[in-house]
Amino acid sequence: MYIADKERYKKMKYNRCGRSGLKLSALSLGLWHNFGSSDSFDNMTDMVTTAFDLGITHFDIANNYGPYPGSAEENFGKIMTRSLAPYRDELIISSKAGYWMWDGPYGEWGSRKYLVSSCDQSLKRTGLEYFDIFYHHRPDPETPLEETAAALDYIVKSGRALYVGISNYGEEATLKISKLLRDMGTPLLIHQQRYNMFERGIENGLQKVWESEGIGSIAFCPLAQGLLTNRYLNGIPADSRAGKSSVFLTADRVNNAPIAKIAALNEIAVDRGMSLAQMALLWDLRGGKMTSVIIGASKPQQITENVAALDAPELTPEELDKIEEILGNEKL
Ligand SMILES: NC(=O)c1ccc[n+]([C@@H]2O[C@H](COP(=O)([O-])OP(=O)(O)OC[C@H]3O[C@@H](n4cnc5c(N)ncnc54)[C@H](OP(=O)(O)O)[C@@H]3O)[C@@H](O)[C@H]2O)c1
Repeated sequence: MYIADKERYKKMKYNRCGRSGLKLSALSLGLWHNFGSSDSFDNMTDMVTTAFDLGITHFDIANNYGPYPGSAEENFGKIMTRSLAPYRDELIISSKAGYWMWDGPYGEWGSRKYLVSSCDQSLKRTGLEYFDIFYHHRPDPETPLEETAAALDYIVKSGRALYVGISNYGEEATLKISKLLRDMGTPLLIHQQRYNMFERGIENGLQKVWESEGIGSIAFCPLAQGLLTNRYLNGIPADSRAGKSSVFLTADRVNNAPIAKIAALNEIAVDRGMSLAQMALLWDLRGGKMTSVIIGASKPQQITENVAALDAPELTPEELDKIEEILGNEKL
């Protein structure tokens, strides 16, 4: 039987999520990769319990994570039942709907029909009574934002979730849905957006919206799916995301990545006695602008290494300048 480490809350930092009452662990664990139907159940259990033992309280899932779509939720549900059930009130579990999940006109995007049905399916797959955060996963160009906001509000008021979030929304739509939700009495808790040294779209305006509206912020792909680690400095290892033929990180993409720049960043990390993965996470969290950063992992050791980054001194202005110099205008 799993018993959580008693020291877990001493090992993590917790940041307030926007102007809400909720705090999130500075690092969260995402289940996009390595939690599907053909992945090792023992390994995923180890990853989740290692994360919780290190004080990670927030686990990020979506209806379509797998493959097959839905299998990450099923696997997380099994881990909950077998290991984490006594700790349910210590966990923030999120799911999302927005991408394709089932055939026909109601299986994706942002209608009330899709969002409520998908949330019910996700609750069933995980076996949970409620989600802590339920997200609209991507903006829908056709459904009125009023309908999507009303569906999210209903999901909270009907007891299916405690808070709502959005992901991949631009500035204007974020501002609009935030105002709609506030008027409905269900303030927008959090915005989930891609953010790493090479992908910095949020810096040009979204961060200002989050601050003015009091919305929390959570970054995904902080390691650019593994590119911002020492993983690919000497080719593509067979057990890596790109080596396992992920459709999201292809060998082509790795081969076209600015490996010399990544190697130069790695040198700064080594000089300060840490790994590039650790430095990339510190960089994402710099200045306290992000509430949390969602890491992915393929083994528990990566989670242990990544959480240890939080013990390191903050990046100095000189180090940050050096990083900017190396990056130049490089985008992935
Ligand atoms: N809202 C959205 O649209 C959206 C989109 C994408 C992701 N997300 C969320 O964000 C989460 C994280 O995304 P991600 O998995 O791409 O994040 P990431 O942290 O950028 O990449 C994770 C990968 O980096 C490698 N890695 C992690 N720690 C390492 C270490 N210490 N040393 C060497 N390599 C290390 C592992 O790759 P190997 O497998 O090669 O070991 C791991 O699978 C997802 O699970 C999901 O919850 C949300």
